[in-house]
Order: sequence, then C-alpha cells, then structure tokens
Amino acid sequence: MKIAITGAVGLFGRGLVLAFSTRHEVIPLTHTEADITNASAFESAMQQIRPDLIVHSAAIPDLDICEADPDRGFLVNYQGTCNVANAARQVGAGLVHISTDAVFDGKKRTPYVETDPTGPITVYGRSKLQAEEAAKSVERHWIFRVSVLFGPGKTNFVEKGLRKIAAGEEYKVASDQMGNATLTSDAGLKIMEVVEAGHCGLYHLANQGACTRFELARTAAELSGFDPAKVIGIPDAQMQRRAPRLKYSVMEMTALKSAGFSLPRPWQEALADYISTLKL
Ligand SMILES: NC(=O)c1ccc[n+]([C@@H]2O[C@H](COP(=O)([O-])OP(=O)(O)OC[C@H]3O[C@@H](n4cnc5c(N)ncnc54)[C@H](OP(=O)(O)O)[C@@H]3O)[C@@H](O)[C@H]2O)c1
Repeated sequence: MKIAITGAVGLFGRGLVLAFSTRHEVIPLTHTEADITNASAFESAMQQIRPDLIVHSAAIPDLDICEADPDRGFLVNYQGTCNVANAARQVGAGLVHISTDAVFDGKKRTPYVETDPTGPITVYGRSKLQAEEAAKSVERHWIFRVSVLFGPGKTNFVEKGLRKIAAGEEYKVASDQMGNATLTSDAGLKIMEVVEAGHCGLYHLANQGACTRFELARTAAELSGFDPAKVIGIPDAQMQRRAPRLKYSVMEMTALKSAGFSLPRPWQEALADYISTLKL
C-alpha cells in the first residue's frame, strides 16, 4: 500500500513511519510539507500522492497548550482532522486516526472499554473526541486511542525524567494519575497488523498493564541504574498545571481481543527495551 503519514516527525509519527515502512511505501508528511489546517493545500497534496491510506498522527497533544488556546487546539486537532478526512474521502483512501484516553472523564475505577460513554474534561479531550467523529466520516476508518507514549526520536515523559535525574535533579510526577503506557514502535506495528487484516473500527491500544505516572517514571529510573528515590510522587493537584488531569484512564483492549488480535507485551518489557537503546 501507499501510505501518507501526518505528523511524521512527531513522537508517534516516527514510530508509525518505521512500522509501516517495513512492508509498505510510506510518504512521511511534516508540518511544513502538509499543514492539516490548510484544507485546499492538504487536499491538493493528497491528490498528487494518491495514497491508499492516510495515517493521521498530527495534532497538538499538549493539554496545557490546548487549554490556554482552545481556538488553536480545535483548529489543529478537530478542524485539521476534518480536512484530513475530507481529503481521504476525495481520493478514496482509508483513514487511521490516532486518538487518546483523554476522551474519557476519568471517574471510573475499572478499565474503560471502547463502548463506554465519553466525557472529556479538557479542551484537548473535547477536540480529540470531535476529531474521532470527523474520522468516522471516512468509510474505511480505524481509530486507535493510545495513552502516554514513549519511544525514540523525540523527548517524552520517560526520557524527560531520566534526563533530569542524570543531571542530578529530582523528577516530580503525579502519584495519583493511573493509566496506560505505550511504546510507539509496539503500537505502530499493532496498528499495521489491524489495518492489514482489514478490521475497521475503534480500538484501545497500549502496552498491557496499568500504572501511575509515578510507577512508570520510577521503573524507568530503576531500569536505567539511577536511584529511584530521585523520582518524587506528588498529588497531581500540586503540579499546578492549566489543564485538569484524569485520575484514572486505564483502557481495556476489548476490541483487539474480540477481533482475535494478540495484545502488545506488558509495559515493563517495552520500557526495558526502550531504555536499553536510550543514550542519556
Ligand atoms: N504523546 C502522548 O502521550 C499521546 C497520548 C495519547 C494520544 N496521543 C496522540 O498521538 C498523536 C501523536 O502525538 P505525538 O505525541 O506524536 O505528538 P507530537 O510529537 O507533538 O507530534 C505531532 C506532530 O504533529 C505536527 N503538527 C502540529 N500541527 C500541525 C499542523 N497544523 N499540520 C501538520 N502537522 C502538524 C507537529 O509538527 P510541529 O512540531 O512542527 O508543529 C508534530 O510533528 C496525536 O494525535 C496525539 O493526540 C499522544
């Protein structure tokens, strides 16, 4: 297949490009090459490329930036996805849309399944939920909700903490935010497998097992040979961030299981693999 990937030099975009390049012709699209907020330019680019599939990873994933500037958050995350979906329909391409656990309200204390009611509490979550609806306008669509990505090529939650500790600082993280962690390459390969099997739909996707941000950062410190006591768990409320965070957003991968797909390995194994390649 010929596959155009938006956000191709972003954290997840890099993992998606690597995964799909193993078996397909990939056209990586950067922000400057293809601005998703410019509907006509994006559609022209797709008319030229004529992809069989668009994998849409471009977004503003920063909750605090979206909360501070809702117009910009909606322009990129929602309107941008409308433009990508329109272009996909125009050229008859399928669409893989990357979504998030932030579409939920965080009030449950058992894992969220794909059919659970949504109820985003942030601008980011609302813009991404509306983007899911836009993605559904494409006949062959896949929506993958991922959570706390880590992987090579761009600074992420795990690497940021390890760099702080390597510099002799403490890493303060929320001890009361429970969710999933996702290695970009594991998720990229699973998405390719689902797409190749032709199973369209909405999927939760992460490495197996739940963890708090504190557990994730502390395990990363241990695996890197640092003093885990340098990771300090504090209540999210003390972190004084603009956008509220979900206390609980663990996702059950019901759709993957019921379609007969194996689940990505546990997060601890994925984290160990990632850290073994990390140069601090
Ligand atoms: N990071 C996470 O933990 C996480 C968790 C759940 C879901 N997600 C979702 O995963 C996807 C990828 O996130 P990520 O972490 O890889 O984010 P990222 O590293 O910030 O990558 C996003 C990419 O989108 C590009 N972009 C922004 N505005 C654009 C525009 N108007 N036109 C074209 N490209 C544009 C950015 O380019 P510039 O930097 O040049 O602007 C960047 O390369 C997003 O859909 C996000 O909502 C991420």
